[in-house]
Amino acid sequence: MRINSPKMNIIHKACTKASKSLIRDFGEIEKLQVSSKGPGDFVSAADKKSEKIIIEELSKAHPDYGILSEESGEINKNNTENRWIIDPIDGTSNFLNGIPQFAISVAYEEKGKVICGMIFDPIKNEMFFAEKGSGAFLNNSRIRVSNKKNLKESMLVTGGPRRSSKKRDSIFKEYNNISNIVDIPIRKFGSAALDLANVACGRFDGFWQWELSYWDIAAGLIIIEESGGFVDFLEKDEKTLAKKNIIATNSKIHEELKNALEKKY
Ligand code: IPD
Ligand code: CA
Ligand code: CA
Repeated sequence: MRINSPKMNIIHKACTKASKSLIRDFGEIEKLQVSSKGPGDFVSAADKKSEKIIIEELSKAHPDYGILSEESGEINKNNTENRWIIDPIDGTSNFLNGIPQFAISVAYEEKGKVICGMIFDPIKNEMFFAEKGSGAFLNNSRIRVSNKKNLKESMLVTGGPRRSSKKRDSIFKEYNNISNIVDIPIRKFGSAALDLANVACGRFDGFWQWELSYWDIAAGLIIIEESGGFVDFLEKDEKTLAKKNIIATNSKIHEELKNALEKKY
């Protein structure tokens, strides 16, 4: 595997270690599905276990670095120079239902900019990673975004909205609008991190979603960028913890998708 830098090495180690615990726990899910208690508590324990392993591994190398992680929030908040961004399981509902579409996502940031990151799907054994200026990879192979040039023929993926979203109506209108353009029905796979990884390797031509969190997308940002794609935001918000409204494409369909999404009703 073409992992050259010390930072990427640390991330790789942390993801590999956490993935073993996730694979074991995922194997238990099927049994729990039919038990009277259901797998809810078990999954939240699996999530926390994965996070603990990742944080321990990253902190061993750099105890002073900042951390933003979904379950634990912020650690070493004062370090704004160097920070890890962690989602220990992205696609929790899939995990909970025994659906093998989830991933670990870990990114490393310097002065607020993502420098490198990894999205690891432990079940399919697909490790997507990228580092600024070094290209993007899926396991041993270099990846590139697709070459699709028009929206009509594109394979798109999205996610949400949650029932509680105040944007629900406009999100559904938007979905309807895009559905009327594309030949292939829009996909929804329930893991934003993997949606981004799959744009990066050309399986999807574009992804958009409202109201994501930074840990859902941090690693995906650099992987998309290094694979020749383009990431943009539907509504700008500079606050790190603010909800992210993302649009990520192969670059070529970007303007067309963005214009279609920005169409006002
Ligand atoms: C979720 C997934 C999902 C997206 C949700 C996220 P989680 O992350 O990325 O695809 O639609 O908005 O919260 O909760 O599984 O880590
Ligand atoms: Ca997530
Ligand atoms: Ca999560």
